[in-house]
Amino acid sequence: MPPDPAAPQPAPAPPAKPESDWWLMTRKFLKKGTSIASFSPSQGPLCRAMASHIDYDAAKCIVELGAGTGPVTAELLKRVKPHTRLIVCELDPDFCVRLRQRFPTAEVVEGDATKLADLLAERGITAVDHVISGLPLPSFPAELRNAVIAASAKVLTPNGTFRQLTNMPWVYMPLYKKYFAEVKFQFVPMNVPPSGVYTCRGYKPDAPGAPTPAA
Ligand SMILES: C[S@@+](CC[C@H](N)C(=O)[O-])C[C@H]1O[C@@H](n2cnc3c(N)ncnc32)[C@H](O)[C@@H]1O
Repeated sequence: MPPDPAAPQPAPAPPAKPESDWWLMTRKFLKKGTSIASFSPSQGPLCRAMASHIDYDAAKCIVELGAGTGPVTAELLKRVKPHTRLIVCELDPDFCVRLRQRFPTAEVVEGDATKLADLLAERGITAVDHVISGLPLPSFPAELRNAVIAASAKVLTPNGTFRQLTNMPWVYMPLYKKYFAEVKFQFVPMNVPPSGVYTCRGYKPDAPGAPTPAA
């Protein structure tokens, strides 16, 4: 017998509860390992440190690399001025969906940080004041790490900064000194775990993977 259209319809199922940021990150970590390298989103004190000590009045363009579920993005968005473009670059499509849901007005770019110059050129950007990296650079293979840092250096202004978060304070100071002439470390003791931010300036011509100058 065909269904009676006048019969009472069952109530629609309630919308599925969105997966939490924490669980999304854990699931991605279990699936992808070293390209995520963290089983939970960064905590507030570290995210605030990543977004601090930036001259937001002067900045014309800020790029975030490896935004994940967006805890650092949220802090940057609280601070950027209307004249500044914030480009949020993330490789994983599911994280990009989450970022666009959370920050509908943000410029979220699904792409590989090693292709940063091209991704920015497509958007009419040739110079960046600050690159804010949440990428797990130390756990990347050396070639990938070299490519990300070289790609960032290519677009940074002469006084621009490359900022890198870490959950292992000071350990990677020698690593970043191979790439940059000036490396400062800000310890963030109130984070769980105690963490920090490297602020790097002046990409070295002899950095690992630096492009060889044309003869
Ligand atoms: C450790 S998670 C950090 C997420 C977030 N910034 C935070 O602090 O919670 C690293 C992020 O980098 C992204 N990622 C890894 N390789 C990438 C690449 N080549 N280009 C852009 N994003 C990348 C991962 O998908 C992941 O979201």
